Amino acid sequence: MIVKSLDHLNKISEKILKKLDKKDCLFLIGEIGVGKTTLTRYLINNLQKQNGLNQTEVLSPTFNLLYEYEISDFKIMHYDLYRIKETKELKHLGIFSEELDAVKIVEWPDLIKTPPQDKLEIHLRYGEKENKREIEFKGQGKWENFKNEI
Ligand SMILES: Nc1ncnc2c1ncn2[C@@H]1O[C@H](COP(=O)(O)OP(=O)(O)OP(=O)(O)O)[C@@H](O)[C@H]1O
Ligand SMILES: [Mg+2]
Repeated sequence: MIVKSLDHLNKISEKILKKLDKKDCLFLIGEIGVGKTTLTRYLINNLQKQNGLNQTEVLSPTFNLLYEYEISDFKIMHYDLYRIKETKELKHLGIFSEELDAVKIVEWPDLIKTPPQDKLEIHLRYGEKENKREIEFKGQGKWENFKNEI
């Protein structure tokens, strides 16, 4: 599917939110600068808006690896694992577990070997023009048919 603009990406984020439950896992896959953090920002800000809360800054967790947001009864954990190069490092840090009682949004999830569960992979690619992108959904569990629903 073609993402025509930032505004279009924002609308897509609302469709994802409609289906999002408290323990879901969203993996964001794509090259540097393609829009993974931007999509996460829309997800978090729209969830805040829906709950009547002020929209906060959503920064890239490039150096911190993780930023957490409490939004009403949702907890969102936003990861950027680009700097992690080995699985044992990830284990050692103990920052990611599928069991966490939170929505896990993960940029650069390559090292995570997740068992089948409610996971949505979102693949982003650059489009022909500056503000265009391609988006592809690959879902497991409840997300399996999301690509046909959107
Ligand atoms: N349709 C679009 N979808 C997403 N981003 C877009 C789009 N059009 C323009 N952009 C711009 O592309 C940039 C995407 O940057 P962003 O930080 O979200 O990328 P990223 O994938 O998180 O990069 P990194 O791998 O470094 O974390 C932003 O400046 C955003 O405004
Ligand atoms: Mg990013």
